Amino acid sequence: MDDELAGRVAIVTGVASGIGAASASLLEQAGAHVIVADLNAAAAGTAGRFVRHDVASEDSWKALLADVLAREGRLDIMVNNAGISGGAGTVETTTVENWQRVQSVDSEGVFLGCKYAIEGMKKTGPGKAASQGSIVNIASVAGLIGTGGPIAYTAAKGAVRLLSKSVALYCAEKKYGIRCNSVHPGGVDTAIFNPLWQMVGREQGKAVIGAHHPIGRMAESEELGHVVLWLASDRSSFVTGAEIVADGALTSGLMRRALRGPS
Ligand code: NAI
Repeated sequence: MDDELAGRVAIVTGVASGIGAASASLLEQAGAHVIVADLNAAAAGTAGRFVRHDVASEDSWKALLADVLAREGRLDIMVNNAGISGGAGTVETTTVENWQRVQSVDSEGVFLGCKYAIEGMKKTGPGKAASQGSIVNIASVAGLIGTGGPIAYTAAKGAVRLLSKSVALYCAEKKYGIRCNSVHPGGVDTAIFNPLWQMVGREQGKAVIGAHHPIGRMAESEELGHVVLWLASDRSSFVTGAEIVADGALTSGLMRRALRGPS
């Protein structure tokens, strides 16, 4: 796999830690030139070239795309990974400000990421080369099934699922040579859980969340990074408009566990 992505240029957002950092590192190992884009300067040095970037700002997207096209000259892979949890608020407790903040990062940020990815890929023409352009949007199992809370996060991730299908269909009909898919992880041990780890301790928290997954554990970031790598590469060349669920059978097991009752 060493040079599988040689000559390809990839942008990965949200790379200071977790799934984004693991994805950027694996894409780089596969030969891609990676631009790591994050609000947090701690992302500098994880892999590739760091650019400070706010996915919720359209001006920031315009600047990022212009910078990448000027310096790298092309764009082949976009991984829209940056996200925030926004807390566990319900329909009764979530403020409009919190709702809007979560939508702006988790939903609108992905919409903008797709919009500017297509603009960049069309200009540099990955579809005309042997390779295809690939957009990978990180959603969540929360985009597949309802939760009482966090309502803002659940709604945003549900939007990512269907906007990804809309982008996939549009690009296919336009014959752009650009694929778009969503990834739906279950629990992954990343910094997104830091507030919970601070309350209950990391090992204890991991055990409790892991037990909710039929596979018996949470995922590590690299396991999701490999899903991203596969979707980014031509190995998934006929996969577009798909929702790739990587959740240790969490969503598969819901009915079985409901019928079995609490253990
Ligand atoms: P993380 O907290 O380790 O990483 C999130 C990254 O996004 C950080 O580097 C942060 O600086 C960056 N970020 C936040 N807001 C940003 C903004 N406005 N602009 C640019 N960068 C920004 O979280 P994790 O877990 O790696 O999450 C990655 C994605 O995976 C998120 O979209 C998350 O919702 C999703 N996800 C995570 C799951 C988990 O269990 N960890 C489960 C399902 C989905």
